[in-house]
Amino acid sequence: MIDLAERKQTDFVTPKNDNKKVVLSGFIEKIRPIGKNLVFLVLKDIKGSVQITFKKENFNEKDLKEISSIPIQSVISLEGIVKKSKLCKKGVEVIAKKYEILSKSAPNLPIDFNSETGLDKRLDNRWIDLRTEKNTLIFQILSDFINFSREYLLKNEFIEIFTPKIIGAASEGGAEVFELPYFDKKAYLAQSPQFFKQMALSAGFEKVFEVAPVFRADPSSTSRHVTEFTSFDLEMAYITSFEDVMKVEENMIAYSIKKIKEKWGGKVKEVFDIDLIIPKIPFPRLKMEEIYKILQKNGSKIKKGEDISTTDERIIGEYVKKKFNHDFVFITDYPWKVRSFYHMRDSKNNSLSFDLLYKGVEITTGAQREHRYEKLVSQAKEKGLNLKLLDFYFNFFKYGCPPHGGFGLGPARFVKQMLNLSNIREAIFLPRDMKRLMP
Ligand code: 4AD
Ligand code: MG
Repeated sequence: MIDLAERKQTDFVTPKNDNKKVVLSGFIEKIRPIGKNLVFLVLKDIKGSVQITFKKENFNEKDLKEISSIPIQSVISLEGIVKKSKLCKKGVEVIAKKYEILSKSAPNLPIDFNSETGLDKRLDNRWIDLRTEKNTLIFQILSDFINFSREYLLKNEFIEIFTPKIIGAASEGGAEVFELPYFDKKAYLAQSPQFFKQMALSAGFEKVFEVAPVFRADPSSTSRHVTEFTSFDLEMAYITSFEDVMKVEENMIAYSIKKIKEKWGGKVKEVFDIDLIIPKIPFPRLKMEEIYKILQKNGSKIKKGEDISTTDERIIGEYVKKKFNHDFVFITDYPWKVRSFYHMRDSKNNSLSFDLLYKGVEITTGAQREHRYEKLVSQAKEKGLNLKLLDFYFNFFKYGCPPHGGFGLGPARFVKQMLNLSNIREAIFLPRDMKRLMP
Protein backbone atom coordinates (compact mmCIF):
# COMPACT_ATOMS: atom_id res chain seq x y z
CA MET A 1 0.00 0.00 0.00
CA ILE A 2 1.19 3.50 -0.80
CA ASP A 3 0.62 5.93 2.05
CA LEU A 4 -1.52 8.85 0.76
CA ALA A 5 -0.41 10.86 3.79
CA GLU A 6 2.99 11.12 2.08
CA ARG A 7 1.47 12.42 -1.14
CA LYS A 8 3.08 15.42 -2.82
CA GLN A 9 1.70 17.23 -5.87
CA THR A 10 3.27 17.36 -9.31
CA ASP A 11 4.82 20.78 -8.62
CA PHE A 12 7.24 18.92 -6.32
CA VAL A 13 8.73 17.29 -9.40
CA THR A 14 11.41 19.86 -10.29
CA PRO A 15 15.12 19.55 -11.14
CA LYS A 16 15.75 21.01 -7.67
CA ASN A 17 14.31 17.84 -6.11
CA ASP A 18 16.45 15.54 -8.24
CA ASN A 19 16.90 12.09 -6.65
CA LYS A 20 14.27 12.69 -3.94
CA LYS A 21 11.63 10.09 -3.18
CA VAL A 22 8.09 11.16 -4.03
CA VAL A 23 4.53 9.85 -3.69
CA LEU A 24 2.12 11.20 -6.32
CA SER A 25 -1.56 10.52 -7.04
CA GLY A 26 -3.81 11.69 -9.82
CA PHE A 27 -5.50 10.96 -13.11
CA ILE A 28 -3.72 9.17 -15.93
CA GLU A 29 -3.65 11.50 -18.91
CA LYS A 30 -1.66 9.34 -21.32
CA ILE A 31 -0.02 5.91 -21.47
CA ARG A 32 2.67 5.03 -23.98
CA PRO A 33 4.19 1.54 -23.81
CA ILE A 34 7.52 1.11 -25.63
CA GLY A 35 7.84 -2.60 -26.36
CA LYS A 36 7.48 -4.89 -23.36
CA ASN A 37 10.07 -3.35 -21.10
CA LEU A 38 9.17 0.32 -20.78
CA VAL A 39 6.00 2.34 -20.17
CA PHE A 40 5.67 6.12 -20.15
CA LEU A 41 2.64 7.54 -18.39
CA VAL A 42 1.52 11.14 -17.86
CA LEU A 43 0.01 11.75 -14.44
CA LYS A 44 -2.13 14.83 -13.81
CA ASP A 45 -3.20 16.51 -10.60
CA ILE A 46 -4.41 20.03 -9.84
CA LYS A 47 -0.86 21.44 -10.05
CA GLY A 48 -0.11 20.11 -13.53
CA SER A 49 1.19 16.96 -15.15
CA VAL A 50 4.42 15.01 -15.10
CA GLN A 51 5.95 12.09 -16.98
CA ILE A 52 6.25 8.83 -15.04
CA THR A 53 8.58 6.16 -16.35
CA PHE A 54 8.06 2.47 -15.55
CA LYS A 55 11.19 0.42 -16.30
CA LYS A 56 11.77 -3.29 -16.30
CA GLU A 57 14.37 -2.94 -13.52
CA ASN A 58 11.56 -1.98 -11.14
CA PHE A 59 8.61 -4.00 -12.41
CA ASN A 60 7.98 -7.49 -13.73
CA GLU A 61 6.43 -8.14 -17.12
CA LYS A 62 2.97 -8.73 -15.65
CA ASP A 63 2.97 -5.34 -13.90
CA LEU A 64 4.18 -3.55 -17.03
CA LYS A 65 1.41 -5.23 -18.99
CA GLU A 66 -1.17 -4.13 -16.44
CA ILE A 67 0.13 -0.57 -16.43
CA SER A 68 0.00 -0.44 -20.23
CA SER A 69 -3.65 -1.36 -20.22
CA ILE A 70 -5.07 0.80 -17.39
CA PRO A 71 -7.86 2.90 -18.93
CA ILE A 72 -7.01 6.57 -19.41
CA GLN A 73 -8.40 8.84 -16.63
CA SER A 74 -8.14 6.11 -14.01
CA VAL A 75 -6.83 7.35 -10.66
CA ILE A 76 -3.52 5.94 -9.44
CA SER A 77 -0.96 6.42 -6.72
CA LEU A 78 2.70 5.78 -7.19
CA GLU A 79 5.98 6.00 -5.38
CA GLY A 80 9.17 6.83 -7.24
CA ILE A 81 12.30 8.95 -7.55
CA VAL A 82 12.50 12.40 -9.11
CA LYS A 83 15.07 12.39 -11.93
CA LYS A 84 16.40 15.15 -14.15
CA SER A 85 15.96 14.19 -17.77
CA LYS A 86 16.94 16.05 -20.92
CA LEU A 87 14.34 14.12 -22.93
CA CYS A 88 11.29 15.37 -20.98
CA LYS A 89 9.51 18.60 -21.76
CA LYS A 90 9.93 19.83 -18.19
CA GLY A 91 13.48 18.55 -17.88
CA VAL A 92 12.41 16.19 -15.11
CA GLU A 93 10.47 12.95 -14.67
CA VAL A 94 9.65 10.38 -12.01
CA ILE A 95 11.06 6.86 -12.15
CA ALA A 96 8.28 4.70 -10.67
CA LYS A 97 9.09 2.10 -8.01
CA LYS A 98 5.58 1.13 -6.84
CA TYR A 99 2.06 1.81 -8.06
CA GLU A 100 -1.48 1.25 -6.94
CA ILE A 101 -4.70 1.72 -8.90
CA LEU A 102 -7.10 3.68 -6.68
CA SER A 103 -10.07 3.84 -9.06
CA LYS A 104 -10.39 2.49 -12.57
CA SER A 105 -12.12 4.50 -15.28
CA ALA A 106 -14.56 2.81 -17.64
CA PRO A 107 -12.73 2.29 -20.94
CA ASN A 108 -14.71 4.55 -23.26
CA LEU A 109 -14.71 8.17 -22.14
CA PRO A 110 -17.77 10.20 -23.16
CA ILE A 111 -15.46 13.16 -23.83
CA ASP A 112 -12.54 13.27 -26.21
CA PHE A 113 -9.93 15.62 -24.75
CA ASN A 114 -7.96 15.66 -27.98
CA SER A 115 -10.70 16.96 -30.24
CA GLU A 116 -13.36 19.59 -29.69
CA THR A 117 -16.28 17.99 -27.89
CA GLY A 118 -19.51 20.08 -28.12
CA LEU A 119 -20.40 22.14 -25.05
CA ASP A 120 -23.62 20.22 -24.37
CA LYS A 121 -21.86 16.90 -24.19
CA ARG A 122 -19.14 18.43 -22.05
CA LEU A 123 -21.72 19.79 -19.60
CA ASP A 124 -23.45 16.39 -19.46
CA ASN A 125 -20.11 14.99 -18.33
CA ARG A 126 -18.91 18.03 -16.43
CA TRP A 127 -16.89 16.12 -13.81
CA ILE A 128 -14.67 14.76 -16.56
CA ASP A 129 -14.72 17.95 -18.61
CA LEU A 130 -13.40 19.99 -15.67
CA ARG A 131 -10.30 17.80 -15.28
CA THR A 132 -8.37 19.78 -17.90
CA GLU A 133 -5.87 22.43 -16.84
CA LYS A 134 -7.77 25.05 -18.79
CA ASN A 135 -11.17 24.31 -17.30
CA THR A 136 -9.82 24.04 -13.76
CA LEU A 137 -8.10 27.41 -14.19
CA ILE A 138 -11.43 29.10 -14.99
CA PHE A 139 -12.73 28.07 -11.57
CA GLN A 140 -9.54 28.92 -9.70
CA ILE A 141 -9.87 32.43 -11.13
CA LEU A 142 -13.59 32.64 -10.39
CA SER A 143 -12.90 31.62 -6.78
CA ASP A 144 -10.14 34.21 -6.47
CA PHE A 145 -12.16 36.97 -8.12
CA ILE A 146 -14.88 36.52 -5.53
CA ASN A 147 -12.48 36.17 -2.63
CA PHE A 148 -10.19 39.08 -3.54
CA SER A 149 -13.27 41.26 -4.02
CA ARG A 150 -14.59 40.08 -0.65
CA GLU A 151 -11.18 40.84 0.89
CA TYR A 152 -11.29 44.38 -0.51
CA LEU A 153 -14.75 45.03 0.87
CA LEU A 154 -14.02 43.55 4.30
CA LYS A 155 -10.94 45.81 4.54
CA ASN A 156 -13.29 48.68 3.82
CA GLU A 157 -15.71 47.83 6.63
CA PHE A 158 -18.44 46.19 4.57
CA ILE A 159 -20.58 43.57 6.32
CA GLU A 160 -21.29 40.33 4.45
CA ILE A 161 -24.98 39.46 4.67
CA PHE A 162 -27.02 36.35 3.85
CA THR A 163 -30.56 37.02 2.69
CA PRO A 164 -33.24 34.41 2.03
CA LYS A 165 -33.61 32.85 -1.40
CA ILE A 166 -37.08 31.48 -0.71
CA ILE A 167 -39.25 34.53 -0.62
CA GLY A 168 -42.94 35.36 -0.25
CA ALA A 169 -43.20 37.98 -3.00
CA ALA A 170 -41.30 38.35 -6.24
CA SER A 171 -38.11 40.43 -6.03
CA GLU A 172 -37.32 43.12 -8.62
CA GLY A 173 -41.05 43.79 -9.01
CA GLY A 174 -42.34 40.62 -10.64
CA ALA A 175 -41.36 39.27 -14.08
CA GLU A 176 -39.13 36.24 -14.71
CA VAL A 177 -39.73 34.59 -11.35
CA PHE A 178 -39.79 30.90 -10.44
CA GLU A 179 -42.76 29.89 -8.33
CA LEU A 180 -42.77 26.97 -5.94
CA PRO A 181 -45.24 25.37 -3.54
CA TYR A 182 -44.45 26.22 0.07
CA PHE A 183 -46.64 24.25 2.51
CA ASP A 184 -50.07 25.87 2.07
CA LYS A 185 -48.64 28.95 0.33
CA LYS A 186 -46.87 29.96 -2.85
CA ALA A 187 -43.26 31.01 -2.63
CA TYR A 188 -40.73 32.34 -5.14
CA LEU A 189 -37.01 31.97 -5.75
CA ALA A 190 -35.19 35.27 -5.30
CA GLN A 191 -34.23 36.99 -8.59
CA SER A 192 -31.80 39.18 -6.65
CA PRO A 193 -31.22 40.20 -3.04
CA GLN A 194 -32.21 43.73 -4.11
CA PHE A 195 -34.98 44.43 -1.57
CA PHE A 196 -33.27 42.73 1.36
CA LYS A 197 -29.86 44.31 0.84
CA GLN A 198 -31.65 47.65 0.93
CA MET A 199 -33.37 46.52 4.14
CA ALA A 200 -29.91 46.05 5.68
CA LEU A 201 -29.31 49.77 5.19
CA SER A 202 -32.65 50.57 6.82
CA ALA A 203 -31.36 48.40 9.65
CA GLY A 204 -28.36 50.73 9.96
CA PHE A 205 -25.66 48.39 8.56
CA GLU A 206 -24.32 51.21 6.29
CA LYS A 207 -22.18 49.03 3.97
CA VAL A 208 -23.16 45.48 2.97
CA PHE A 209 -22.51 42.88 0.31
CA GLU A 210 -23.69 39.39 -0.51
CA VAL A 211 -22.44 36.62 -2.80
CA ALA A 212 -25.24 34.14 -3.39
CA PRO A 213 -27.35 32.36 -5.98
CA VAL A 214 -30.15 34.17 -7.77
CA PHE A 215 -32.78 32.70 -10.07
CA ARG A 216 -34.25 34.09 -13.29
CA ALA A 217 -37.08 32.38 -15.18
CA ASP A 218 -35.69 34.00 -18.31
CA PRO A 219 -36.68 31.94 -21.35
CA SER A 220 -33.93 33.43 -23.53
CA SER A 221 -31.13 31.09 -24.43
CA THR A 222 -27.99 33.12 -25.03
CA SER A 223 -24.27 32.81 -24.41
CA ARG A 224 -24.56 35.22 -21.47
CA HIS A 225 -27.81 34.19 -19.73
CA VAL A 226 -28.56 31.28 -17.42
CA THR A 227 -31.49 30.69 -15.09
CA GLU A 228 -29.41 30.38 -11.93
CA PHE A 229 -26.20 32.27 -11.24
CA THR A 230 -24.10 33.55 -8.37
CA SER A 231 -24.62 37.25 -7.94
CA PHE A 232 -22.19 39.67 -6.28
CA ASP A 233 -24.37 42.36 -4.72
CA LEU A 234 -23.35 45.46 -2.82
CA GLU A 235 -25.25 48.29 -1.16
CA MET A 236 -23.92 51.34 0.71
CA ALA A 237 -25.50 54.21 2.65
CA TYR A 238 -24.95 57.97 2.90
CA ILE A 239 -23.72 58.30 -0.68
CA THR A 240 -23.76 61.71 -2.30
CA SER A 241 -24.41 60.18 -5.73
CA PHE A 242 -24.07 56.91 -7.64
CA GLU A 243 -20.54 58.12 -8.41
CA ASP A 244 -19.60 56.94 -4.87
CA VAL A 245 -20.84 53.44 -5.75
CA MET A 246 -18.93 53.35 -9.04
CA LYS A 247 -15.76 54.38 -7.19
CA VAL A 248 -16.06 51.43 -4.83
CA GLU A 249 -16.74 49.07 -7.72
CA GLU A 250 -13.81 50.19 -9.90
CA ASN A 251 -11.43 50.05 -6.94
CA MET A 252 -12.66 46.60 -5.96
CA ILE A 253 -12.28 45.29 -9.52
CA ALA A 254 -8.82 46.80 -10.04
CA TYR A 255 -7.69 45.36 -6.69
CA SER A 256 -9.02 41.95 -7.59
CA ILE A 257 -7.54 41.86 -11.12
CA LYS A 258 -4.16 42.98 -9.76
CA LYS A 259 -4.17 40.08 -7.30
CA ILE A 260 -5.37 37.62 -9.95
CA LYS A 261 -2.62 38.76 -12.28
CA GLU A 262 0.03 38.32 -9.57
CA LYS A 263 -1.18 34.79 -8.86
CA TRP A 264 -2.35 33.52 -12.26
CA GLY A 265 -0.98 35.95 -14.88
CA GLY A 266 1.69 33.55 -16.15
CA LYS A 267 -0.65 30.60 -16.35
CA VAL A 268 -3.38 32.64 -18.07
CA LYS A 269 -0.83 33.69 -20.68
CA GLU A 270 0.30 30.09 -21.17
CA VAL A 271 -3.15 28.46 -21.27
CA PHE A 272 -5.36 31.19 -22.79
CA ASP A 273 -2.72 33.37 -24.49
CA ILE A 274 -4.17 36.41 -22.72
CA ASP A 275 -2.19 39.20 -21.07
CA LEU A 276 -4.25 40.23 -18.05
CA ILE A 277 -4.54 44.01 -17.85
CA ILE A 278 -4.88 45.81 -14.52
CA PRO A 279 -7.43 48.49 -15.38
CA LYS A 280 -6.54 52.14 -14.84
CA ILE A 281 -8.69 54.06 -12.37
CA PRO A 282 -10.97 55.92 -12.97
CA PHE A 283 -12.70 53.76 -15.56
CA PRO A 284 -14.09 55.85 -18.43
CA ARG A 285 -17.64 57.12 -17.89
CA LEU A 286 -20.12 57.92 -20.67
CA LYS A 287 -23.61 59.33 -20.25
CA MET A 288 -26.44 57.78 -22.25
CA GLU A 289 -26.81 61.11 -24.06
CA GLU A 290 -23.32 60.59 -25.56
CA ILE A 291 -23.89 56.85 -26.01
CA TYR A 292 -26.83 57.49 -28.37
CA LYS A 293 -24.61 59.70 -30.53
CA ILE A 294 -21.71 57.23 -30.53
CA LEU A 295 -24.01 54.36 -31.46
CA GLN A 296 -25.79 56.23 -34.22
CA LYS A 297 -22.43 57.20 -35.69
CA ASN A 298 -21.33 53.57 -35.61
CA GLY A 299 -24.18 51.88 -37.40
CA SER A 300 -26.69 51.18 -34.60
CA LYS A 301 -30.40 51.70 -35.20
CA ILE A 302 -31.00 52.80 -31.60
CA LYS A 303 -33.31 55.77 -30.99
CA LYS A 304 -33.02 58.23 -28.12
CA GLY A 305 -34.87 56.95 -25.06
CA GLU A 306 -34.37 53.26 -25.89
CA ASP A 307 -32.28 50.76 -23.97
CA ILE A 308 -29.06 49.49 -25.54
CA SER A 309 -28.91 46.03 -27.10
CA THR A 310 -26.15 43.44 -26.87
CA THR A 311 -24.90 44.53 -30.32
CA ASP A 312 -24.83 48.12 -29.07
CA GLU A 313 -22.79 47.02 -26.07
CA ARG A 314 -20.24 45.44 -28.38
CA ILE A 315 -19.97 48.63 -30.45
CA ILE A 316 -19.44 50.67 -27.27
CA GLY A 317 -16.79 48.21 -26.07
CA GLU A 318 -14.86 48.64 -29.32
CA TYR A 319 -15.25 52.44 -29.20
CA VAL A 320 -13.96 52.61 -25.63
CA LYS A 321 -10.99 50.37 -26.39
CA LYS A 322 -10.01 52.59 -29.31
CA LYS A 323 -10.68 55.94 -27.67
CA PHE A 324 -9.55 55.26 -24.07
CA ASN A 325 -7.54 52.05 -24.46
CA HIS A 326 -9.68 50.64 -21.64
CA ASP A 327 -11.61 47.37 -21.23
CA PHE A 328 -14.18 48.86 -18.87
CA VAL A 329 -16.73 51.63 -19.23
CA PHE A 330 -19.48 52.95 -16.97
CA ILE A 331 -22.58 54.00 -18.86
CA THR A 332 -24.65 56.38 -16.75
CA ASP A 333 -27.86 58.39 -16.68
CA TYR A 334 -30.18 55.90 -18.39
CA PRO A 335 -33.69 57.07 -19.21
CA TRP A 336 -35.75 56.16 -16.14
CA LYS A 337 -38.31 54.59 -18.49
CA VAL A 338 -35.96 51.66 -19.22
CA ARG A 339 -34.81 51.15 -15.62
CA SER A 340 -36.27 49.67 -12.43
CA PHE A 341 -38.84 51.53 -10.33
CA TYR A 342 -36.48 51.66 -7.32
CA HIS A 343 -33.81 53.69 -9.17
CA MET A 344 -33.78 57.34 -8.14
CA ARG A 345 -34.90 59.70 -10.90
CA ASP A 346 -33.60 63.19 -11.66
CA SER A 347 -35.43 66.26 -12.96
CA LYS A 348 -34.60 65.31 -16.58
CA ASN A 349 -36.38 61.95 -16.19
CA ASN A 350 -33.11 60.06 -16.16
CA SER A 351 -32.36 57.43 -13.58
CA LEU A 352 -29.33 57.97 -11.37
CA SER A 353 -28.00 54.65 -12.48
CA PHE A 354 -25.20 52.94 -14.33
CA ASP A 355 -24.15 49.78 -16.10
CA LEU A 356 -20.57 48.59 -16.22
CA LEU A 357 -19.41 46.97 -19.46
CA TYR A 358 -16.30 44.76 -19.62
CA LYS A 359 -14.99 44.25 -23.16
CA GLY A 360 -18.39 45.21 -24.53
CA VAL A 361 -20.60 43.08 -22.28
CA GLU A 362 -22.71 44.24 -19.32
CA ILE A 363 -21.36 42.83 -16.08
CA THR A 364 -23.12 45.17 -13.65
CA THR A 365 -26.23 47.24 -13.13
CA GLY A 366 -26.20 49.74 -10.28
CA ALA A 367 -27.92 52.88 -9.09
CA GLN A 368 -28.70 55.33 -6.39
CA ARG A 369 -32.00 54.05 -4.93
CA GLU A 370 -35.12 56.02 -4.18
CA HIS A 371 -35.18 55.98 -0.37
CA ARG A 372 -38.07 58.43 0.14
CA TYR A 373 -41.21 56.46 0.94
CA GLU A 374 -43.79 58.51 -0.99
CA LYS A 375 -41.61 58.89 -4.08
CA LEU A 376 -40.82 55.17 -4.10
CA VAL A 377 -44.49 54.19 -3.91
CA SER A 378 -45.43 56.62 -6.64
CA GLN A 379 -42.63 55.36 -8.91
CA ALA A 380 -43.83 51.77 -8.48
CA LYS A 381 -47.35 52.93 -9.29
CA GLU A 382 -46.11 54.71 -12.40
CA LYS A 383 -44.46 51.47 -13.57
CA GLY A 384 -47.82 49.71 -13.17
CA LEU A 385 -46.64 47.32 -10.44
CA ASN A 386 -48.91 45.63 -7.92
CA LEU A 387 -48.49 47.90 -4.90
CA LYS A 388 -50.04 45.43 -2.45
CA LEU A 389 -47.37 42.86 -3.24
CA LEU A 390 -44.66 45.45 -2.66
CA ASP A 391 -46.03 46.68 0.65
CA PHE A 392 -43.51 44.66 2.66
CA TYR A 393 -40.73 46.41 0.71
CA PHE A 394 -42.17 49.90 1.05
CA ASN A 395 -42.24 49.34 4.82
CA PHE A 396 -38.42 49.26 4.82
CA PHE A 397 -38.56 52.99 4.03
CA LYS A 398 -41.36 54.03 6.35
CA TYR A 399 -39.37 54.44 9.55
CA GLY A 400 -36.27 56.24 8.29
CA CYS A 401 -33.78 55.02 5.71
CA PRO A 402 -30.43 56.60 4.76
CA PRO A 403 -29.85 57.63 1.15
CA HIS A 404 -28.06 54.75 -0.53
CA GLY A 405 -27.06 52.95 -3.68
CA GLY A 406 -25.43 49.75 -4.86
CA PHE A 407 -24.88 47.31 -7.65
CA GLY A 408 -25.23 43.70 -8.74
CA LEU A 409 -22.37 42.04 -10.61
CA GLY A 410 -22.33 38.65 -12.35
CA PRO A 411 -19.02 36.94 -11.48
CA ALA A 412 -19.42 34.29 -14.20
CA ARG A 413 -19.91 37.00 -16.82
CA PHE A 414 -16.89 38.77 -15.42
CA VAL A 415 -14.68 35.69 -15.80
CA LYS A 416 -16.15 34.94 -19.24
CA GLN A 417 -15.03 38.40 -20.35
CA MET A 418 -11.67 38.23 -18.61
CA LEU A 419 -10.74 34.95 -20.33
CA ASN A 420 -12.54 35.64 -23.63
CA LEU A 421 -14.75 32.56 -23.18
CA SER A 422 -17.42 32.19 -25.82
CA ASN A 423 -20.18 31.10 -23.43
CA ILE A 424 -20.98 31.99 -19.80
CA ARG A 425 -21.65 28.28 -19.17
CA GLU A 426 -17.89 27.67 -19.39
CA ALA A 427 -17.55 29.68 -16.16
CA ILE A 428 -20.41 28.01 -14.27
CA PHE A 429 -19.82 24.75 -12.42
CA LEU A 430 -23.15 23.23 -13.41
CA PRO A 431 -25.12 25.66 -15.54
CA ARG A 432 -28.90 25.83 -15.37
CA ASP A 433 -30.86 26.98 -18.36
CA MET A 434 -34.21 26.26 -20.05
CA LYS A 435 -33.01 22.84 -21.17
CA ARG A 436 -30.48 21.95 -18.54
CA LEU A 437 -31.43 20.54 -15.12
CA MET A 438 -29.06 17.56 -14.92
CA PRO A 439 -26.59 16.72 -13.60
O1 4AD B 1 -28.67 43.72 -14.32
P1 4AD B 1 -29.27 42.87 -13.26
O2 4AD B 1 -30.53 42.16 -13.59
O3 4AD B 1 -29.46 43.82 -12.02
C1 4AD B 1 -29.98 43.48 -10.80
O4 4AD B 1 -30.20 42.34 -10.44
C2 4AD B 1 -30.12 44.63 -9.87
N1 4AD B 1 -30.83 44.21 -8.65
C3 4AD B 1 -28.74 45.10 -9.53
C4 4AD B 1 -28.71 46.33 -8.75
O5 4AD B 1 -28.12 46.33 -7.69
N2 4AD B 1 -29.27 47.38 -9.26
O6 4AD B 1 -28.21 41.78 -12.79
C5 4AD B 1 -26.93 42.17 -12.34
C6 4AD B 1 -25.85 41.43 -13.12
C7 4AD B 1 -25.82 41.71 -14.61
O7 4AD B 1 -25.13 42.88 -14.92
C8 4AD B 1 -25.11 40.47 -15.13
O8 4AD B 1 -23.72 40.54 -14.93
C9 4AD B 1 -25.65 39.39 -14.22
O9 4AD B 1 -26.07 40.03 -13.02
N3 4AD B 1 -26.80 38.72 -14.83
C10 4AD B 1 -26.79 37.45 -15.32
N4 4AD B 1 -25.81 36.53 -15.39
C11 4AD B 1 -26.12 35.33 -15.92
N5 4AD B 1 -27.35 35.00 -16.38
C12 4AD B 1 -28.37 35.89 -16.31
N6 4AD B 1 -29.60 35.53 -16.72
C13 4AD B 1 -28.11 37.17 -15.77
N7 4AD B 1 -28.86 38.28 -15.55
C14 4AD B 1 -28.06 39.18 -14.99
MG1 MG C 1 -28.75 44.87 -15.95
